Amino acid sequence: MGAIRIRERALLQVTEPGLIESVLLPGDADYAPSLATLRREQAVVELGSGEYLLPGFVDLHNHAPQWPQLGKALDVPLEDWLDRYTFPLEARYRDEEFARRAYSSLVAAMIANGTTTAVYFGSAHLPATQLLAELCLQAGQRALVGRVAMDAVDTCPDYYRDSSAGLAIEETEALITGVGAMPGNEQRLVQPVITPRFIPSCTDELLAGLGEIARVTDAHVQTHCSESDWAHEYGLARYGRTDTVSYDYFGLLTRKTVLAHCNFITCPDMDLIASRGAAIAHCPLSNAYFANAVFPLRRALESGVRVGLGTDISGGPGTSILRAMADTVVMSRLLEDGVDADIPTASRGVSGSRVSSMEAFYLGTTAGGIALGLPIGLLSPGMSFDAILVDSAAAESALTLWEEFDSTDEILQKIIHSANRNNIKQVWVAGTSVKGPV
Ligand code: GUN
Ligand code: FE
Repeated sequence: MGAIRIRERALLQVTEPGLIESVLLPGDADYAPSLATLRREQAVVELGSGEYLLPGFVDLHNHAPQWPQLGKALDVPLEDWLDRYTFPLEARYRDEEFARRAYSSLVAAMIANGTTTAVYFGSAHLPATQLLAELCLQAGQRALVGRVAMDAVDTCPDYYRDSSAGLAIEETEALITGVGAMPGNEQRLVQPVITPRFIPSCTDELLAGLGEIARVTDAHVQTHCSESDWAHEYGLARYGRTDTVSYDYFGLLTRKTVLAHCNFITCPDMDLIASRGAAIAHCPLSNAYFANAVFPLRRALESGVRVGLGTDISGGPGTSILRAMADTVVMSRLLEDGVDADIPTASRGVSGSRVSSMEAFYLGTTAGGIALGLPIGLLSPGMSFDAILVDSAAAESALTLWEEFDSTDEILQKIIHSANRNNIKQVWVAGTSVKGPV
């Protein structure tokens, strides 16, 4: 992980399909003439004092249908939460009008919070999931969208279960075709994702069938992996191997896979994930409620695993990747120090676990882009112009910058820990303004 470079008065030139063509600095020979020309053509957005341009945020794990539940239903373990709250809510998305209402509100909120790319689980309904893809495209949000597949009789309720593995496989294929064929999606701003819910929800036939689709189509894959004690042990009891090894067996661990959580993965699991080039969505806030442990982030990074951040709405009751960055730092400190004061200091935590605010920022931007293999998350030539403009002096801002005290690095730390959506004045995806002036 390299250092974060903060550039003052940089001039980014963006071409027609929304790519960054060049980044000029005041010392460069072309800078003054280029700026003069762009000003004359009124083709430049100039930042005011206290305004900062950042790469857009990448949310690697977000359950779109759980949006109406955000902030509640946090009182029971994962397996009860699914049965008691989440499956009944997700089942409602057979009603497309309900889906339209919920998904429109979600996508608008994500963009308002600066999430330029989101990786969404949909529900187990093809029409509602296709609608989610269309709403992302209409709103201009870069998105990866999956119809969740779940056919296991033991763990999925009668009212919310794929009637067969064959149906889930067919509808996954139909979503891949449908998203590819959406008018206006020629640049593939929205892409389909193969989405087995998690091992307890899926039969072998379904996992194998989805693995075959991954092989044939090279589409992205997303699922949950070794999330909680219960989920991890369920996979071990069923197969005698970890979730990671099982997903690999079924052809679901690819360069384009995002595994959510992974709190209980072993060192060999990390090596396997790294060797396949798959990525982990670290969801720090959700893990605090449902995972029974803190994700060993530092160890994963040291094993060469690609890691980015996820909100895990609504397991994680936060909308913003800025919040996920701050929570990443907090959880890493709890893991490092340990939490039980009755345990002696030396053996209380896992030393060397902490990550810095800057590392967390990297995870929520650049690393998210790398995880997905997309040219996003970095304001450099050749990358898509997916960016946000932070206004530190916005109304209702909680940011307190002090010019005489704060270095540019420190300003970024303050943005990570105390900016909110009111500070996000404008958002661009692929060069198009999707929040703020058009
Ligand atoms: N495991 C299976 N389904 C889910 C879900 O919806 N959220 C989380 N956090 N874990 C899951
Ligand atoms: Fe999840």
